Amino acid sequence: MTEKHLNFNMQNDLSNYRKSYEKSHLIESSLDENPMMQFRKWFYEVEEMGGIEEVNAMTVSTIGLDGFPKSRIVLLKHYDENGFVFYTNYQSEKGKALIENPKVCISFFWPTLERQVIIQGLAKKTSDIQSDNYFNSRPEGSKLGAVVSPQSQVIPDYDFLQNKLKELEQHYQNQPITRPKHWGGFLIKPMIMEFWQGRPNRLHDRIRYTLENMDWRIERLAP
Ligand SMILES: Cc1cc2nc3c(=O)[nH]c(=O)nc-3n(C[C@H](O)[C@H](O)[C@H](O)COP(=O)(O)O)c2cc1C
Repeated sequence: MTEKHLNFNMQNDLSNYRKSYEKSHLIESSLDENPMMQFRKWFYEVEEMGGIEEVNAMTVSTIGLDGFPKSRIVLLKHYDENGFVFYTNYQSEKGKALIENPKVCISFFWPTLERQVIIQGLAKKTSDIQSDNYFNSRPEGSKLGAVVSPQSQVIPDYDFLQNKLKELEQHYQNQPITRPKHWGGFLIKPMIMEFWQGRPNRLHDRIRYTLENMDWRIERLAP
């Protein structure tokens, strides 16, 4: 029997994976009226608690050119009253997807405090100046990595990247590495933000903020 067949018969029953969520709660009286402020509060609480290496790691889901949703992790690099910013290659699969269809969902899972935040909104490219500023703040190796990698394209092997890196290291020996035009940020302007707090007996808290006429409507959802 081949390895493939063995894998096919492998069974993984995870039905006994269970835990009770009891670390915190989210009640109306303690909510901020503005979901960005609520996000900031939660973010800092999770950060302060420790135990998560990349608190700013988030799942970004896009609708691809093929019509399928696809999710992947990226790092949140900035957020303020305008929204959430991450950086990527505009010619990557997600880059092309967002340029064609700016509807996007980002989500965070912070298990240490049993929290999830799900944000739906619209993505647009950050300004050249903002992308330049961030690019210029990166270590040289990361700058070169962004130039070297044709993100999401099929490449022949790992050496392809290493050889390209060597070439570029030589090329940029005596000149600054500038941001390639196909690399930059996306700003996600939130329209719906949902905060999920794990509670005992699966009776979790879910609070949804929906943007309506420049104001946020706040509702509780059944878990
Ligand atoms: C922890 C972590 C952080 C990542 N951060 C980024 C990021 O900030 N930007 C990015 O383009 N890709 C990031 N990636 C890689 C993406 O998950 C993904 O592989 C890549 O962007 C290509 O995605 P695409 O082909 O769907 O466009 C990260 C991956 C991990 C696991």
